[in-house]
Amino acid sequence: MRSLSGLQKFLETKSAPVTVFDDKLRAFVADMHETMVESGGIGLAANQVGVTTRVITMLIPWSKSRYAEQEEKKEEWHDVKYTFINPVITKKAGKIKYQEGCLSFPEIFDFVDRAAEVWVDAVDEFGKPFQVHANGLFAVCLQHEIDHIDGIVFINRMSKLKSDLIRKKISRKGKLDISEKTAAKA
Ligand code: NI
Repeated sequence: MRSLSGLQKFLETKSAPVTVFDDKLRAFVADMHETMVESGGIGLAANQVGVTTRVITMLIPWSKSRYAEQEEKKEEWHDVKYTFINPVITKKAGKIKYQEGCLSFPEIFDFVDRAAEVWVDAVDEFGKPFQVHANGLFAVCLQHEIDHIDGIVFINRMSKLKSDLIRKKISRKGKLDISEKTAAKA
């Protein structure tokens, strides 16, 4: 399992595309999936574990997605293990406001405005292209993770007042405490 702490400096770095699809990449992807699940996350971007390449892992368990106010119905993307390499959002539609959490900011949970639906082109760990059309939490999580590999953290999507307050709190304490909350983190 990879460490998720002390890696703040990588979070605001724009990651480079993956160009080599070899066993080393596939071992890293497997490692990311393990780290994500063991940390209780539903999504993870490579720069959250200190590697600045455009790799995202995701697995949204049906039960864990139920932190929204209303009960969600089971979607085809629930309980599916996804690996997105070099993902690109080709189309967006609608608006959604979801309470997001992040493995890199364990005690922060807040509402962020996102597109309600996104269409994404990506390749898998073998370099094979695929596309997804995402809605609900899957769309939110994809936008959260693609932001990560672009060097954008979710506190940048909040008001300046709020994100400054969070930054001040982080720099004062050095790090953030692990939250008792059980909401999904990505
Ligand atoms: Ni995150």
